[in-house]
Amino acid sequence: MAVRAINDRVCAVGVIDWDRQVFDELLTLPEGTTYNAYIVKGSEKTALIDAVDAGFEEELITNLIRADIASLDYIILNHAEQDHTGALPMLYELFPSATIVTTEKCQDLIKILHQIPNHRFMIVKDGETLSLGDCTLEFLETPWVHWPETMMTYLQEDKLLFSCDLFGAHFATSRLIAMDERIWYGPAKRYFAEIMVPFRAKVRDHLERLSSYEIACIAPSHGPVHANPTPIVEAYQEWSSEEVKNLVIIPYISMHGSTKTMVRTLTDALIRRGIETRPFDLGRADTGLIASLLLDAATVVIATPTVLFGPHPKAANIAFIANMLRAKCRFVSIIGSYGWGGKAVEDLSGMISKIDAELLEPVYIRGQLNEEGTQLLENLADEILKRHTDNNLP
Ligand code: FEO
Repeated sequence: MAVRAINDRVCAVGVIDWDRQVFDELLTLPEGTTYNAYIVKGSEKTALIDAVDAGFEEELITNLIRADIASLDYIILNHAEQDHTGALPMLYELFPSATIVTTEKCQDLIKILHQIPNHRFMIVKDGETLSLGDCTLEFLETPWVHWPETMMTYLQEDKLLFSCDLFGAHFATSRLIAMDERIWYGPAKRYFAEIMVPFRAKVRDHLERLSSYEIACIAPSHGPVHANPTPIVEAYQEWSSEEVKNLVIIPYISMHGSTKTMVRTLTDALIRRGIETRPFDLGRADTGLIASLLLDAATVVIATPTVLFGPHPKAANIAFIANMLRAKCRFVSIIGSYGWGGKAVEDLSGMISKIDAELLEPVYIRGQLNEEGTQLLENLADEILKRHTDNNLP
């Protein structure tokens, strides 16, 4: 990646991972990602902010050379996760006089992840500052976006916030600055849905605190830089809220077609009632897209056949993910078909204990959908409509 200037003293020296398809062996990245890093050149000292993923050390060093960086005084670590500290062991060797600046909690993690000795660290606390000569870095401890040790760095003179994971996007783009909201909005929302949503209460707290700062530019550690912070901040206010929409998503899996017929019938019943509805075939669906819509959906209906004695593993997986993400939905239900028995409904409902939602009467029928089963699905659609209407969902 080329070195790109943000202003006279700040430049981007991070890397683009065009081809990465999965993160944490879990999250799909249809548009790759970037591991951003920034140089802040003060009149007396130079700081590097964040340190890209392992495997990109050479590219980072090339960028530092292109940026005319012969030495570093400080390496600022906003977050210990390896996608921002992967190059640290090499930087530590290459710049022996550089001080690693981070929080105590981050130091603790860095020590176990990278075996860096204590004497190389400078521990900073919330609100402390570090002068680079003609400019000053202020450190803001912002835990749980996305690990407990996360902090942000604010360049006071330029009103520039280095926000690390917060406000990021897994989006490999050659554009440094976010331009068209229609392009970055989807990847940023997906990223929030996959990473930040379990911590949305913390995000709200941090947004509140950041509102007292004048922020002219947000430079996250993934995706484009927001030279106009308002759209991404407003998007975060919406995504981190507990608000949901008049939307039902139906993640389903079907082995012999009975459950699929039920999903089609329920989908049709909901659409007839004016409710936005989106079924997802879990045999093909992109879980990142499901996660994105989990940010909006007032109701989630999981549809599964019985496999041996319980839910299909793909249905169990999406229930596990929704539970892990603490989905915002207010109502859940389960539908499906069985042949000779099992505990699919009981098992699935036990898997979503962290979701604060009302369980609407499941519709679990034996064999093919018949008239009675169809009526039960109509009744479920009525119940969903009533809940959505009573809650004045937009
Ligand atoms: Fe981009 Fe939590 O690391």
